[in-house]
Amino acid sequence: MSPRSANPSVSLAFTVTACGLALLLTACGGAGGARGSSGSAGVGDPYFPKAGNGGYDVTHYALDLAYTPDSSATLTGTATITARAGVRLSAFDLDFKGMKVESVTVGGRDARWKRDGQELIVRPRSALAEGKLFETTVRYSGVPETLTDPDGSEEGWLPTADGAVALGEPVGSMAWFPGDHHPSDKATYDLSITVPKGLQAVSNGELRAETTNSAGTRTTYRWRTAQPMATYLATVAIGHYDITRTTTKNGLPVYTAVDPKEAVASRAVLASLPRIMEWEEYNFGPYPFSSTGAIVDRRGDAGYALETQNRPFFPGAPDTATLVHELAHQWFGDSVTPRSWRDMWLNEGFATYAEWLWSEDHGGDTAQESFDALYAGTYFDDPAESEAVWAFPPGRPSSAAHISDSPVYERGAMVLHKIRRTVGDDRFYDIVQGWAAAHRHGNADTADFTKYVERMAPGKDFGGIWKDWLYGDGKPAHA
Ligand code: TRP
Ligand code: ZN
Repeated sequence: MSPRSANPSVSLAFTVTACGLALLLTACGGAGGARGSSGSAGVGDPYFPKAGNGGYDVTHYALDLAYTPDSSATLTGTATITARAGVRLSAFDLDFKGMKVESVTVGGRDARWKRDGQELIVRPRSALAEGKLFETTVRYSGVPETLTDPDGSEEGWLPTADGAVALGEPVGSMAWFPGDHHPSDKATYDLSITVPKGLQAVSNGELRAETTNSAGTRTTYRWRTAQPMATYLATVAIGHYDITRTTTKNGLPVYTAVDPKEAVASRAVLASLPRIMEWEEYNFGPYPFSSTGAIVDRRGDAGYALETQNRPFFPGAPDTATLVHELAHQWFGDSVTPRSWRDMWLNEGFATYAEWLWSEDHGGDTAQESFDALYAGTYFDDPAESEAVWAFPPGRPSSAAHISDSPVYERGAMVLHKIRRTVGDDRFYDIVQGWAAAHRHGNADTADFTKYVERMAPGKDFGGIWKDWLYGDGKPAHA
C-alpha cells in the first residue's frame, strides 16, 4: 500500500533536492534545527510527472460534499485527508485543479497554503515528524472543471442532463477533491454527498446511510470504501437512477444505478452481471471487494466506460463484452493497481484478455482466433486500426496521449496469450490467480509481472516474449 516509501530512490532524490534548495534559505540542516523538507510536487510518473506528491502516504479520505445540479452547478466540499509523513515535512503538496480553496488546517490548526497550477502547497504551523500520522482538512467550493486528457478525452467533473458524474482516469479526480492523485497511493474512503431531495447519489463501496433533512429538501448519501482504492477509481454519480439491489450466489451485494432512459436497453445485460461475476471469480480467484454493481448514465460525449471501483461506469447501456471488461478490471487495475501509468497494459491487457476468454468459454471466437486475427490484420475493419496495434510496445507507451491505444489493450492481451501458449492452460490460470492474489489491494509494475511469471514457470523461456512482444518496437516477426 505504500510503494513510494518502499522505493528509496524516489524519496532520496527529492529529499536531497529539497534540502539542497532549502539550505539556501537556511531552513534545512543546521545543528538541531532541522525543520524538514518539502514533499515533492510529483512522484516521478514517466507520463504524468506532476501527478501525486512525495513525502507522505494517504491512508484515508473523508469527503463531505454537497452538489446542486441546477444553473449554479456548485460543489461545496470538506476533504479530511489522513496521511503518514514519509520524511520530516515542513511543507507538502496536494493535487487540486480549479475550485476555490477556503481554508486549510493541519492537525486542527490553520496552515499556510498557496496554489501553483495543480499543486496546493500546504505549510503546517510546525513541521511533521517522520512517520507521523496527520490530518489535513481542506474546505472548498466552486464549479468543478471538466478536464481534457492528453488523448483528447474528457474526465474530471462531467455534468449530465439531470446531475453529474465524476470520472478520474488518469488524473481527473483532482477536479473534485484535493489529494495524492497518483495510482501508487491507495487509501480507504468515507464519502458523504448531499443533493436536492428526489435525486440519487451513487459512489464506490457500500451505502451506509440515506437521510433527508427535517425540511425535506435535501438528502445525504453516505458511502464507505473499506478496501484500498486509487483516486482515479473514485466516482460519484448524481441524477435520477433506477436502483436495483441483489446478491450473487456467494452473497456478494450487487448495487446497480441506471438512468431511466437506459433502463430498457440495460435490463438484460445487467441481469447477467451476477453470472459474469461468478465466471470471473472462477477464473481470476476470489473477488477483492465487498460489493459490486454498475452505474449506467447518459454521457455519450464521455464516450467511454471506466472501471470505477466496485461499480464500473457506462456512458449508456453496455454490451456484454464491455461489462466483462470493466468487471475484470476490479481484479486487474482496481485491486492490483499499476505502480505508474507506464504499467497501464497490466490493466488493459488483462481486461481485454478477459473479453477473449469470455468469448472462448461462451461459444464465440477462441483467444487463439482473436490473436491470429490481430496478427493477420483482420481483427479490425479499418486497416489503419489494424496497423496501429504495432505502433509501440505495450510495456513502453510512446507518450501520455497514447496510454489507452490498442498496443496497450490488444497487444497487451497478445502478450498474455503468448504466456498461455508457453505454459499451458493449467499453469496459465495459476499465474492469473496467483498474480491477483500476490498483489491484492496493492500496486505492481511490469518488472514485478515478468519476474512473477518466470518464477511460476521455472525452465520456460520468456525472453523472446518480453523482448519482441512486451518491449520490442514494431510487429514481431513470428506469431
Ligand atoms: N480504462 C477504461 C477502460 O478501458 C478506458 C479509459 C477511460 C481510459 N478513460 C481513460 C484509459 C483514460 C486511459 C486513460 O475500461
Ligand atoms: Zn479497460
